[in-house]
Amino acid sequence: MKDGKFGLGIIGLGARGVHFGGRDFLKSGNCYVTCVCDVFQERVDSAINELGGNITGYTNVDDFLEHPDLDAVVVATNDMTHADIAVKVLAKKKHLYLEKPMAQTIEDCDRIIDAWTGESVFMVGLELRYCTLMQECKKIVERGDIGRIIIGTVVDNVSVGGNYYFHGPRRKKQYIKSLILEKGTHSLDLANWLIDDSPVKVYASGGLDVFGGDGEDINCVDCDKKSECHYYRNDKVFIMDYGAEVKETTLDKCVYSKECDTHDNSLVIIDYEKGARLSYMECHFTPEYSREFMFVGDKGKMTAFYNNEQEFKIMVWKRHEEKPVYYYPPKVEGLGAHGGGDDGIIREFSKRILSGKPCMIGIKGARDSAAIAIAAYQSEESGLPVTIPHNRIFDGEQK
Ligand SMILES: NC(=O)c1ccc[n+]([C@@H]2O[C@H](COP(=O)([O-])OP(=O)(O)OC[C@H]3O[C@@H](n4cnc5c(N)ncnc54)[C@H](O)[C@@H]3O)[C@@H](O)[C@H]2O)c1
Repeated sequence: MKDGKFGLGIIGLGARGVHFGGRDFLKSGNCYVTCVCDVFQERVDSAINELGGNITGYTNVDDFLEHPDLDAVVVATNDMTHADIAVKVLAKKKHLYLEKPMAQTIEDCDRIIDAWTGESVFMVGLELRYCTLMQECKKIVERGDIGRIIIGTVVDNVSVGGNYYFHGPRRKKQYIKSLILEKGTHSLDLANWLIDDSPVKVYASGGLDVFGGDGEDINCVDCDKKSECHYYRNDKVFIMDYGAEVKETTLDKCVYSKECDTHDNSLVIIDYEKGARLSYMECHFTPEYSREFMFVGDKGKMTAFYNNEQEFKIMVWKRHEEKPVYYYPPKVEGLGAHGGGDDGIIREFSKRILSGKPCMIGIKGARDSAAIAIAAYQSEESGLPVTIPHNRIFDGEQK
């Protein structure tokens, strides 16, 4: 700690690590970046150049963790590395902000939870809980307006699927397992949080119906159909929905090639411990980019609409009443990425560190949302329902 600010380090210097873990954390004014780490030296050099200040670079996580004024770590590496790195960070008693998904297996999620010593702040990057829409939904549900949630549906309309996922390594199951784990964990976490329960059984069906195919694995720049392809990509800089600029032009592999095997549409049915049930649909070829939520409780129904333009809308219709009531949660200006969620979660993480009280926040939800996605992947592969193992750590504890 220096002048009331904590020393922050970032592991994984891709778009999310540098833009969110670096620039957005710095803008919050609660920390200074003291060190960064990536396996590629050029990413280390470029991040130091971009973030400025007195920053030490590392290419090895163990050396990075010995850095003298390191208090908190953002881990924004590729999903398959999350577990091993998170366990090391927690074992060193550093505060940890681990990007979602928590891990790629349920055993790895539980291994990370077991590694928490109780002496640091630990959160997973499920920032949408902190957007104004979801804060309002949580308030409505906790107030009892719709009663105990019994059944619900969540839809992820991902018009950007072709551009975000099918040009690069994320088009392979081997790399990300599934787009439900990569993308859906956000919406699934929100559903778990509102239902206030843990999933126990999952059945899923999915396919690859628009992307993939028999095509050869060529790059967009070499393709003779570029003028007619909606997914043709030659951008020098590609802007993600949270504002990050992705500068790699190497991510222009053909979205219609036979190399793609990640499913582009899925349906999941989830049973919860206390009896609630949820359906989740994820589709990567919708015209629009939004999230839709619908929950019916024993006292009424709530629907909620989310998009990145923050045209938020909630409807609450109490049973036996004549008309619904509508709510329009406010837009967040400035640091408004992910509906104000990015700003909100940085504030929460920083506040917890500065208060000096170690805690795990939202970890049960992070484990449960990853568990649904992992079980859904297994169910899509086998055609059978999958049971989620219970995590004893959370019996009677925080959500
Ligand atoms: N919460 C959100 O809304 C959100 C948004 C985007 C990405 N993410 C998550 O952030 C993470 C990073 O995403 P990205 O798009 O920046 O990925 P990326 O592939 O562009 O960057 C990952 C970086 O991690 C580095 N890395 C991998 N293994 C490492 C290791 N062992 N030690 C040090 N560095 C290592 C890679 O070299 C790469 O530079 C992913 O887990 C992704 O799911 C979350």
